Amino acid sequence: MTYDPVRGMRDILPDEVGWWRLAEEKFREVARLYNYREIRFPILEATELFTRGIGESTDVVGKQMYTFPDRKGRSLTLRPEGTASAARAYLTAGLQVKEPFQKWFYIGPMFRYEKPQKGRSRQFHQYGIEAIGSLDPGLDAEVISLARSLMERLGLGGLRLRLNSIGCAKDREAYREALKEHFSDRISSMCTDCRRRYRDNPIRILDCKEEICRPHIESAPKSVDHLCAECREHLEGVRERLDFLGLGYELDYRLVRGLDYYTRTVFELSSDALGAQDSLIGGGRYDGLIESLGGPPTPAIGFAGGMERLVLALQEDGKIRPEGEPLDLFIATLGDEASRAGLKLAEEIRSAGLSVDLDHRGRSFRKQLNLANRLGASSLLVLGDEELESKEGKLKDLSSGKEEGVELISSGIIDRLRRKKGV
Ligand code: HAM
Repeated sequence: MTYDPVRGMRDILPDEVGWWRLAEEKFREVARLYNYREIRFPILEATELFTRGIGESTDVVGKQMYTFPDRKGRSLTLRPEGTASAARAYLTAGLQVKEPFQKWFYIGPMFRYEKPQKGRSRQFHQYGIEAIGSLDPGLDAEVISLARSLMERLGLGGLRLRLNSIGCAKDREAYREALKEHFSDRISSMCTDCRRRYRDNPIRILDCKEEICRPHIESAPKSVDHLCAECREHLEGVRERLDFLGLGYELDYRLVRGLDYYTRTVFELSSDALGAQDSLIGGGRYDGLIESLGGPPTPAIGFAGGMERLVLALQEDGKIRPEGEPLDLFIATLGDEASRAGLKLAEEIRSAGLSVDLDHRGRSFRKQLNLANRLGASSLLVLGDEELESKEGKLKDLSSGKEEGVELISSGIIDRLRRKKGV
């Protein structure tokens, strides 16, 4: 019997991990530059956190969550995203009282029962930012600028930033009504998903990609025409700051995002490298979320991006590549005694911070040499009976082919390897 991974979940094998680490390191680097601190949340949360936080009528809650009872019958859910957890963690730690302004970042697996395809999986990984405790439009601009700066550092071009405002809870109510009115005599000729959305959450109709729905959506009213004075001013504030920072964007009146907690600013960043539909990053304000979870009114903004998509874009279009992980030394051994001596020598050299590998499969000298080359070892030491007897060996530079004699004591070898590395 063989086992396959669960559909939509996959292994990231060592050959690919370099790309992931590169993307993660750049994200950490940028987060540090903007003074965002790392937070780690549990992977499981009470289901109610997501149903309340993200909204019952969203696709994520309605169709995509991995939900199951624990042994005591409590309903738990594998986190489908990080924002609800961030809001919960903020309240759990009492930060609303202790230190209400927080800037966080996170990286980790998320779970959504979606149809797997390129850049979309059931276990995926998000890198995300959450800035909690301010309504200042300068914070919106900072968060968007951070997202852009990450892409620039990864050398990703063809970026497209779309921005919209969907207003506060009151504005959304008015907008909802306007949409209901607009779609009322059109909905019967639209797709079945839209008919459901019309009932549950008409704003989500704007997200539909179906051909038959498009003309009805194009003529729909815009959220920006239903903003209160305060939300209009906020949007102007964000736009003004983005202009001031020279961050190009397009206003996209159709952009509404798929999670119910959003208010005011919403944005998505996409890249040509991924094709038109896939966004690298999606985010926005969620000024009512913390209050809806029992906390005080607390404005906040953030974004998250899918690591899978970022890695794909990077592999296709990025200007930087992961560096290899060079091996400082390979010890080829011939015979039992040499293999034992090699094991010990390797330990001593490793304890000086140099990487060493050797053969563990009793292979021929030629095969060990091939392996050393394949591993990209920078030096090779051969240990056989002769070397053990004379206590002298030869250290070979595998890139130049030059050899030099060394005494078979670790300190001497360590010195040579260090000199070669320039450390
Ligand atoms: P989201 O738009 O649902 O927002 O997801 C953000 C990003 O996660 C997407 O743009 C995409 O890159 C990636 N993503 C989503 N689903 C999948 C999937 N099934 N496979 C691969 N990648 C995926 C959120 O999750 C919000 N929590 C973002 C946020 C943070 N808003 C405010 N703060």
